[in-house]
Amino acid sequence: MNFRNAFAGAIVSLALFTGCAQKNSVDIIPLPQQMTVNSGSFTLDNNVSIAGNSQFEIDLLKEKLSTAAGIVLKDAGEGGRIIEINVDPGAGTKKEGYILDVTPDKITIAASDKAGAFYGVQTLMQLMPPAIYGKAQGGENWSIPCVSIQDWPRFGYRGAGLDVSRTFFPLETIYDMLDWISYHKLNKFHWHITDDNGWRIEIKKYPLLTEKGAWRGPDEVLPPSYGSGNKRYGGFYTQEEIKEVIKYAVDRNIEIIPEIDLPGHSKAVIACYPEVGCTNVDKTMSVNGEVNNVWCVGNEKTYTMIDNIVAELAALFPSEKLHLGGDEVNMDNWKNCPHCQAFMKKMGMKEEIELQNYFVRRMEKIAAKYGKVLVGWDEIRKGGDLEPSTIVYGWASMKSGAEAVRKGQRTVFLPAQYCYMDMKQSKYERGHNWAAIVTLDSTYKLDPINMNDFTPEQEELVLGVQANLWCELLDRPARFLEYQYFPRLCALAETAWTQPELKDYDNFWNRITASHYDRMYNMGIKFRMPFPEVVYENNTLKVTSPYEGAEIRYTTDATEPTLSSDIWKGDIKTDEPEKYRFATFYKDFNQSIAVGASNIDPYHYLTPEVSIESSYKESETAKGFPMANITSYDMGKYWRINRRSDAGDFVLYTFKEPVECGKITVETGVPGITFYSCTEGHVEYSYDGENFIKGDDFVYGIATIKPEEKVKAVKVVFTGMSDALITAFQNLRIEK
Ligand code: ACM
Ligand code: ZN
Repeated sequence: MNFRNAFAGAIVSLALFTGCAQKNSVDIIPLPQQMTVNSGSFTLDNNVSIAGNSQFEIDLLKEKLSTAAGIVLKDAGEGGRIIEINVDPGAGTKKEGYILDVTPDKITIAASDKAGAFYGVQTLMQLMPPAIYGKAQGGENWSIPCVSIQDWPRFGYRGAGLDVSRTFFPLETIYDMLDWISYHKLNKFHWHITDDNGWRIEIKKYPLLTEKGAWRGPDEVLPPSYGSGNKRYGGFYTQEEIKEVIKYAVDRNIEIIPEIDLPGHSKAVIACYPEVGCTNVDKTMSVNGEVNNVWCVGNEKTYTMIDNIVAELAALFPSEKLHLGGDEVNMDNWKNCPHCQAFMKKMGMKEEIELQNYFVRRMEKIAAKYGKVLVGWDEIRKGGDLEPSTIVYGWASMKSGAEAVRKGQRTVFLPAQYCYMDMKQSKYERGHNWAAIVTLDSTYKLDPINMNDFTPEQEELVLGVQANLWCELLDRPARFLEYQYFPRLCALAETAWTQPELKDYDNFWNRITASHYDRMYNMGIKFRMPFPEVVYENNTLKVTSPYEGAEIRYTTDATEPTLSSDIWKGDIKTDEPEKYRFATFYKDFNQSIAVGASNIDPYHYLTPEVSIESSYKESETAKGFPMANITSYDMGKYWRINRRSDAGDFVLYTFKEPVECGKITVETGVPGITFYSCTEGHVEYSYDGENFIKGDDFVYGIATIKPEEKVKAVKVVFTGMSDALITAFQNLRIEK
């Protein structure tokens, strides 16, 4: 079927000009399943009344219009224009679906359930000027194009996940997230509420979990980590606060699925209640470099404590789902624990993987005792079968989720290659890339049904999709959560909601740039802006704009463009392309990263012969990351030490010959993300190799030197504890 013809009304962005110069586009995200755009419009003003039985939605619309536009909807209409919002089990809509009809005199939203009415209102708001999400800026045309929409979701599970352990987010951010999720018709918030680096939910029976386990720092039970530096950091949510959050979510058709990550990722618990951890002698590290972070599976106290915790969670969260993690357990902990080994012997188990299955089966029983269904990551399938009701979150790959489905488990798909919002969005941006560079297009492409060869019965087991944000890199820059999530979460929303035959990336991109940027701006989301593509050919810098009408500014001195930089208008002839930087701007609110031409090296670093001395032992070097990496001037490489650094640690770079230069940038940590960096310390430099001058403190792992003479040596000096169990060093960036 040629969907462009069949659904022309839905696909084509229609500009309506209703009297004044204001343009209202029908650019809805996620795209509705069936939509016809008719001529004419409904004018919103103080003569409109609102009626119906869907009170929350009625109040929501009244509140939005009054705040954004100063329009006060009347309660009951006697003639005149009217908006009606009704939930009627006989409305004939699918689950969470709605019918929205806009004519010049009347708007009706009809749905069989409250969720449908809520989503009808969301669509209606997207038919209004973007200021509906914020405050009127003047000049809005408060009218709504006439449309006829019949809409429903493709998947029942449309999720967003957030790790609040590595980075703690205040309640305000959680409420913002719930708003933003609901605007995009997502209906699950998966709250990863505990992990190694902070326990963030009040459990009345185990007060130490939040008295101690919610905090990290030099004098806390949890050491500093993930950008929290050499200071006390943390926070948690009380049960009363969580009750309010849940109420807010329920009103917006969002189910909150709490996750307590067990039996790995549990350093915060075990630091507070060591009796439930393995007493292993050999300190084996988890993939995140943590030790002592695994519950002891051979100890009955473990199950008593988990049961007590689950009792409180079950009483708090209405969701039928209870996510108990199960991922990335380093089973060497169990191999080296006398309790676990004795238990294996007693049970006749041969391999530690059987302990994992034993543990998961016990978790299923505990969940069931409190009326819940167990949810866990891919790894819960390891080592044996599961209850048919247990839900698997397929994260490692598309294949792992598909295997869960083929095994008969209900599965949520969040393959990291499409859905992990901690992955970087281009090679130039901050973020992980162990799974992939996850572009907007990658997230949009995800389709767990069409990308697999499932039987109809297996398709029924695909509950839906989720975008997920792990937060070890989220301490900075400011509002990085929004940068990582938007607009990738919009792509996930369309993947989750809209039938695949209606989806078209170019069309989606047009809706994002033509209308949704303005909406996100009004929603208060500091979304990621795309940068222009720049190449240098025939002495000319050629720039490709990321979208029609994008505002691109540039500099000619290699600095980051600002709002006062020149606007790019066309090809630039130059013999010095490395001096140019370009960025895309959205109002005075947002801008992309700055880029130079992608086919030239914009930096000309000097590469003088250099040798290293340090406080680290050869044996502390991680495999594959030798010290020689940081004398190679290959900027992608780094030297990795398998331990936390502390006051007194140092790395000394000594040049064979003193170097004449204007600037040396000293970066610690992993290149590009400055993870595992020097969080407490400064640089020193020397002109003679003996007398050292104190330079800048490290800020986010970076310090610069502007020498006045030739430099003989540069030293990284730690004055306090670093905030990771690993330390990394890079090549010096030496500029003329
Ligand atoms: C995971 O990313 N370890 C679920
Ligand atoms: Zn044990």
